[in-house]
Amino acid sequence: ALGSPTQRRPGSRQRFVADLSQCLFDFVVQLLPTQEELAVKEDVRKLLERLIRTIEPESRLLSFGSTANGFSLRNSDMDLCCLIDSEERLAASDLVTMLGDLLERETKFYVKSLPHARIPIVKLSLDPSPGLPLGIACDIGFENRLALENTRLLMCYAMIDPARVRTMVLFLKVWSKRRKINSPYKGTLSSYGYVLLVIYFLVHVKNPPVLPNLQQMPPLRPISEEDTHLHGHNIWFFDDIELLRQRWHSDNNESVADLLIDFFRYYSRDFPYNTGVASIRSGLLKKDSKGWQNDLSNQRYNDARERNRLCIEDPFEADFNVGRCVTKDGLYTIRGEFMRASRILSSRPERAIIALAELCE
Ligand code: GTP
Ligand code: MG
Repeated sequence: ALGSPTQRRPGSRQRFVADLSQCLFDFVVQLLPTQEELAVKEDVRKLLERLIRTIEPESRLLSFGSTANGFSLRNSDMDLCCLIDSEERLAASDLVTMLGDLLERETKFYVKSLPHARIPIVKLSLDPSPGLPLGIACDIGFENRLALENTRLLMCYAMIDPARVRTMVLFLKVWSKRRKINSPYKGTLSSYGYVLLVIYFLVHVKNPPVLPNLQQMPPLRPISEEDTHLHGHNIWFFDDIELLRQRWHSDNNESVADLLIDFFRYYSRDFPYNTGVASIRSGLLKKDSKGWQNDLSNQRYNDARERNRLCIEDPFEADFNVGRCVTKDGLYTIRGEFMRASRILSSRPERAIIALAELCE
């Protein structure tokens, strides 16, 4: 009864896209965390900080990840990072063990300490309560300053054009969770990875770009190497968002629905998965040039090949592939989902809300 898109009346596409944009905004708004949830989380952070200071008086506990970058959904987990400002400090593994014991004694959290993990962390969870109907999950790591910086970078990108950037990112997070392609442990991609794919698309694929490249903008005044580098990584980016809003203006006026449709089309059809690396700092790079592509015939490199199916360069750690957990099967599934989404949106059912429901089924 709907006919193929090409047989439709002119104007029906515009109507569908306008509808879809409105549906996306409405859909995302109801998934934002409530004020109450944010307040409870901040209380939890303060409580934990107070307890950690009984072990390390010079420490601070900071939020990173979605709770701090503007891409938080209702009931998302809390990522916390402990920074210790004194020279003499305990080793992270000792601190993790001591903190785990302390939290087990002093709080109601379920505690799991991982002192010997690659990145030692304490994992906490709390059962549901009236303020947090779905409970809480929280990871505490130590000295992860790069994660704090990449959180700030994503937050700045979100603030430049919240209506389009946040809506797209939040929708993709829900979609990827509902479609079960958001589990690095099972061979698919982390939320962080999806956010980088969106920013890459808005900075480097869209023409004219929706977002500027904050890492390549000239600083307002000269800055010393010492101020721009952390553990050998260049962490500088243009972070004066107020000024940027006055001086930078995107010539791209596409609606959020147009952008989303194009996002799915690009990642189902056009992104060169076999040879390409998505870098928000540098644009499209070659796996070859980063040593991320390995000869099929060479057994020795099979592991590296398996780890580099989907290549997304970390914004600060250039030798780190954020998509390293994505397996061959995982990538096949993810691309299949991009294609499915693209197909649903191009079939343009009569009402946009139906497309959205089907997308996230
Ligand atoms: P949700 O937890 O799903 O709401 O998303 P999130 O935005 O918190 O993302 P995620 O939990 O995947 O990552 C949290 C933060 O950890 C990110 O913002 C990054 O700062 C950091 N992070 C996650 N994965 C990586 C990674 O592979 N490399 C680096 N350097 N940092 C990462
Ligand atoms: Mg998180």
